[in-house]
Amino acid sequence: MTNAKDLYPGFLTLDDALHLDGETVKKLQLQHMNQYRIQMGLEGGLSFDIVKAEGCHIWDAEGHERLDFIGCVGVYVLGHNNPFIVDGVLKYLSTHPLSMDPMALKPVTASFANNMALVTPELTRTIVNGGGGAEAVEAALKMCRIAAGRTRPGKTRVVSTLNSFHGKTLGAVSAGGKETWRRWQPQVPGHVYVPYGDAEAVEAEFKKGDVAAFIAEPIQGEGGIVVPPDDYFYTIRKLCDEYGVYMILDEVQAGSCRTGYIWAHKYYDGLVPDAFTFAKGISDGLLPVSGVQAKESLYMAAYGSNDSAMMHTATYQDNNISAAVALLSLQYMIENDVAGKIRERSTYIFDGLRNIQREHSDILSEVRGRGFMIGLKFGVDANGEGYANRVGAILAQKHYVQTMTSTNNDTILRVYPNIATTREDFDWFLDALEKSISEVQAA
Ligand SMILES: Cc1ncc(COP(=O)(O)O)c(C=O)c1O
Repeated sequence: MTNAKDLYPGFLTLDDALHLDGETVKKLQLQHMNQYRIQMGLEGGLSFDIVKAEGCHIWDAEGHERLDFIGCVGVYVLGHNNPFIVDGVLKYLSTHPLSMDPMALKPVTASFANNMALVTPELTRTIVNGGGGAEAVEAALKMCRIAAGRTRPGKTRVVSTLNSFHGKTLGAVSAGGKETWRRWQPQVPGHVYVPYGDAEAVEAEFKKGDVAAFIAEPIQGEGGIVVPPDDYFYTIRKLCDEYGVYMILDEVQAGSCRTGYIWAHKYYDGLVPDAFTFAKGISDGLLPVSGVQAKESLYMAAYGSNDSAMMHTATYQDNNISAAVALLSLQYMIENDVAGKIRERSTYIFDGLRNIQREHSDILSEVRGRGFMIGLKFGVDANGEGYANRVGAILAQKHYVQTMTSTNNDTILRVYPNIATTREDFDWFLDALEKSISEVQAA
């Protein structure tokens, strides 16, 4: 056997990798990965060496205990290293063959799909990806386009909302309502963007007769925790039925209990989209997993024949290990009433935040969101520079509290606690926020 280090001096084994010091990691990332992104993280107090993570706490290599109130932008809704999920996955790995064979029978994935259909009885077909949220969005959009092409000829366009975020793969980013992420030519055709929360603008597009699908987030996450009017999605549902348009809700960020409902659309009594996407929270950050839950009629219109059965495949699609993580997360959510607890506990943090907002209304104008999907709207200074980033940096660097601004709207500081958060953690955060805002004001 050849030693990789002999052949390639400097080769790092997994064991080496796990013992690198933070400075070396930084150097390697700056040299071989996206240096500008790392630089931004370092400047904002977001990039550091995590040596331990538990519940809503993370520990860096310098020994600081940090409060994780962003959780990889919504991933850790069930807490870091949730023992129920970690133990379940380890048990699975130590007792079962890890076959990724796309055509093999899939006991775990089939069981997860069964469970999802029990939770959302009107949506009974599941696609599981061993990937991220964008892959789920791609799958949902493609399913609707194929279905529309077969059953609703002439309907090809996709309506999405301005400032929305659906991921950064080619198809997903084309549905995203932020031009910044679509700076290439030619653009993927067939996409149009309307203001979020404006059902009339949606109908104006539907009236043109060529729309295949509508996609939106139940609450815009990267757009800045934008909660639409309560009747918005009911109206969209009616319009989709009237004009023969598929309705997709992108629950990558808002789903998996984040908003205090197992799926964010469950906030709306009786509302059933034709498909919704899931990712982030259902993975609990253990292994990449995302997917789509779709109505039988939509799924069958797209893939319900021998001729179309192979139209949407991927090497890791429906793999058992990603599905095991999702199954365990779903079970944990149900058995621990995670959604109910988030609804109940969020009142404490919302009350605390609103008190702070009243005290500092000159720079903090609004506290918004639902459950543990919270946005703080900050103003901008005389030079047009937002306070949100400054408050976030002080929170991280001086008080060891991790939050993050929204990608498409950096006036919003996002606050994403998780189910392991205690009263003491909330108080740590509220105290740190008050001090950080006061420091920014004093400056
Ligand atoms: C609503 C929504 N959809 C899709 C995505 C893309 O997910 P990923 O980054 O895992 O591809 C995101 C990511 O933030 C998201 O918030």
